[in-house]
Amino acid sequence: MSDTHVVILAAGKGTRMKSAAPKVLHRAGGYSLIEHVLRAADALEPATTVVVVGHQSERVEAALGKRLGLGFALQQPQLGTGHALLQAEPFLAGRSGTVVLLSGDVPLLRSDTLRALVQTHTTRGAAATVLTARVDRPQGYGRIVREQGRIAAIVEDKDASPAERDIDEINSGIYAFALEPLFGALKSIGAANAQGEYYLPDLVKIYRERGLAVETVLLDDAREIMGVNSRRELADVAAILRTTKNDELMAAGVTLVDPASAWIGPDVVVGADTVIHPNVYLEGSTRVGSGCEIHAGVRIVDSTIDDGAVVNNYCVITESRLGPGALVGPFVHLRPQSVVGEAAKVGNFSELKKTTLGKGSKVNHLSYIGDTTVGEKVNIGAGTITCNYDGTHKAQTIIEDGAFIGSDTQLIAPVTVGKGAYVGSGSTIRENVPPGALAVSAGKQRNIDGWVEQKKKKK
Ligand code: UD1
Ligand code: CA
Repeated sequence: MSDTHVVILAAGKGTRMKSAAPKVLHRAGGYSLIEHVLRAADALEPATTVVVVGHQSERVEAALGKRLGLGFALQQPQLGTGHALLQAEPFLAGRSGTVVLLSGDVPLLRSDTLRALVQTHTTRGAAATVLTARVDRPQGYGRIVREQGRIAAIVEDKDASPAERDIDEINSGIYAFALEPLFGALKSIGAANAQGEYYLPDLVKIYRERGLAVETVLLDDAREIMGVNSRRELADVAAILRTTKNDELMAAGVTLVDPASAWIGPDVVVGADTVIHPNVYLEGSTRVGSGCEIHAGVRIVDSTIDDGAVVNNYCVITESRLGPGALVGPFVHLRPQSVVGEAAKVGNFSELKKTTLGKGSKVNHLSYIGDTTVGEKVNIGAGTITCNYDGTHKAQTIIEDGAFIGSDTQLIAPVTVGKGAYVGSGSTIRENVPPGALAVSAGKQRNIDGWVEQKKKKK
């Protein structure tokens, strides 16, 4: 069992987001801010993970409810970061080891950085280790005050003297603490400062006065500890996550025509020699094979696109699969559980739902095919509708291999069109069509000679 414990602070209001939703639930790069933090923390395989919640605690807890083994500590009211960590004490009582403290609004932090922090902390036997960074603009951050090179205190921006304000080494707000002295010392923090809050960074001075070892780990890339306090910063973080993912994909042989407008989630896989055009969104667990082409304006969620498939402009594809060499679009909607078989085609303003289209079959124009199994080499004419819903129940349609459905046909499910059968245009098919048969349901055409001339005379 690991003796590393993680506490994530997420009780603050996030006033500058100007949002009805809690700040840590805002999303960037496919996950909420706090999910990014939890994913980074997972690498430590913590024995305990506690999220300190306060502002809109129910919503944060509900959003993270699916994650097993999370503890939620309620901080009410929010009296500062020192007070926030104190609320986690009941979850850590009787434990030993290291507490890693994270902020729910710092989503770019990497697992490797956390491992290095814990490594330094434990090998040096420190009571506290602070993750720090040097930045061009330290305004707003706590400054690292050093004496003879060693960290002596952290001074908050609002409490800093002019000389301290010039310090460019800042506190990331991320720390490792030895559990043993932690909660006792937290209780000795006061709130006599510019903000009247219990500052967690005050622990540094308290520990140094008690002769306890405090270490620092300096980050190479200060962007990693960027916090999100506003929509502007949320967009900045999203852009960094996008660039990181897109650079990985391009290095692995994927062409991004415009990397600035390709939004590809962190878990998405794309094969070499696939070309992705502008304004494409690939989300969730989507996997795209090699040699595919995804044209502009496409959104694909939790779907699999096999090698050589082409998605033409402006399609929405959710929880579906395209077989090798399939072609869909432009303007196609594939709703969940649709499968477009090898070299099959779905085009122009067609919608599929819970439908399997066999190898080489086509639904090329203006059709709705739902709850349907379509065999191989079937041609479905323009404007074909499966009437799969009677207002209460959904029913299945089966169209067997090689069948031909004439344009403007309604197939009233449950119904089967047999192998190689033909359905005449404009039919309403209520009964099964045997293999090899022709079904026509439209009435016989009647022409009334001279009708137009007669109508004119009546006027
Ligand atoms: C904090 C640090 C500062 C550091 C900076 C890094 C303090 C006093 N200052 O400042 O040294 O440079 O982070 O970003 O710690 N929170 C609670 N309960 C509270 C107060 C805050 O849970 O009562 C949470 C917030 O939701 C947030 C985190 O703690 O996730 C940091 O709080 P915030 O108010 O943003 O601290 P900063 O002023 O940024
Ligand atoms: Ca902050």
